[in-house]
Amino acid sequence: MPSPAGQHRGRPKVVFGQVLHFLKDPGEVPDPAAWEVFEDGALAITADGKVAYAGPARALPQHLAGAERVDHRGRLVVPGFVDTHIHAAQVDVIASYGKQLLEWLETYVFPAEAKFDRAAHARALAGFFLDRLLAAGTTTATVFPTIHPTSVDAFFEQSRQRGLRMLCGKVLMDREPYAPAYLRDRSVDQAEQQTRELIERWHGKDRLGYSITPRFAPTSTERMLAMTGRLLQEDRSLWLQTHAAENKDEVALVKKLFGGRSYIDVYERYGLLTKRSLFAHCIHIDTTDRKRLAAAGSSVAFCPTSNLFLGSGLFDLRAARGSKVTVGLGTDVGAGTSYSLLATLNEAYKVTALRGRSLSPYRGFYLATLGGAQALDLDHVIGNFRVGKEADFTVLDFTATPTLARRTDVAKDFTERLFALMILGDERAVAATYAQGRLVHDRDNDPALLG
Ligand code: GUN
Ligand code: ZN
Repeated sequence: MPSPAGQHRGRPKVVFGQVLHFLKDPGEVPDPAAWEVFEDGALAITADGKVAYAGPARALPQHLAGAERVDHRGRLVVPGFVDTHIHAAQVDVIASYGKQLLEWLETYVFPAEAKFDRAAHARALAGFFLDRLLAAGTTTATVFPTIHPTSVDAFFEQSRQRGLRMLCGKVLMDREPYAPAYLRDRSVDQAEQQTRELIERWHGKDRLGYSITPRFAPTSTERMLAMTGRLLQEDRSLWLQTHAAENKDEVALVKKLFGGRSYIDVYERYGLLTKRSLFAHCIHIDTTDRKRLAAAGSSVAFCPTSNLFLGSGLFDLRAARGSKVTVGLGTDVGAGTSYSLLATLNEAYKVTALRGRSLSPYRGFYLATLGGAQALDLDHVIGNFRVGKEADFTVLDFTATPTLARRTDVAKDFTERLFALMILGDERAVAATYAQGRLVHDRDNDPALLG
């Protein structure tokens, strides 16, 4: 196990390899000014886990020459992936057959989440979950646990031990009958009290941030949404995560329960649209909704494996970005079918193709890194290799599988190689993952040996 490491205390380090990172959204027709790629590159990390240099190896500043050297030449070094929507408590319901959203929640998800009232279960699954994220090259995520404070404690404790930047917050759900009796907050007052205690315990501790988490409108009473809005207005440093407009039956239900112009309008009514708000899915929304989201600086998580698995619909990336809505990628495990943002990009490409567009590998890797950091309002600390940012990164292997190796071999340029990695890659292509410059996943070595 890694040693407890809220803060990095290592030796300065220089990683050699091909280095790629983004400075802004490359757009639909990729603008080369949006990224930097260094074929024979170097990434230098300070003793406290920050980026000291990213550029050509031959231009490495002299004072960094004596640092520990890590050789990843032939591999691609990118910023750690950012997953903008995932459920830590759905580890055991991934790949559950045959239902759309509302029935799927009732049949599979709620019974699985109910088990998190047991601290031992919550701890065991939080460890498994974080191992899966790191194996996928994901170093930051915004995470749904369950209604149980124990599930939040288990997740934050283990994220802190691994030195990770993570967002999470107790799920709020109190509305009968959509929140079942066995998985329902007893009262808004109790939910508020628990939330306040958890904020006190975790928000801003090391790299952790608290995200207020009303599950979605159908499981929320008006009072619960109003309480959520109050907390957000009280402390602008808090995040918010929820689901919105994922499924047509869900949208109809919200109309019936809350009225209003639209689903997004309901959340806006209660003050839930902030710069740190993240709405998962947003498939069935219109231009007015997009403009409202953009005006508030709120973000949307595009979760293609989940949207296809539950038959929810095809997210319109072009319309979202066209309206200046910030978009990140989400795996949405367990409706999503992979922890890997590479596998997620593979499906994102196909969804975009079905909408008559395409997703370049540059925009794809931007979405998985800096785009995600921007969606979480964390781009001042993570997302690319600007000097001074936290050195979370992932080392990708173009030879991970015979198919990828062969396709890479015949590729005519870097763009083709990157595209093959985006379409064929998954956890097998993640050779190593680092958080604050410290190795936290090593594909080819026993994790028990990691220091
Ligand atoms: N909407 C409300 N809860 C959930 C959930 O757990 N997963 C997904 N995909 N959508 C939801
Ligand atoms: Zn979800």
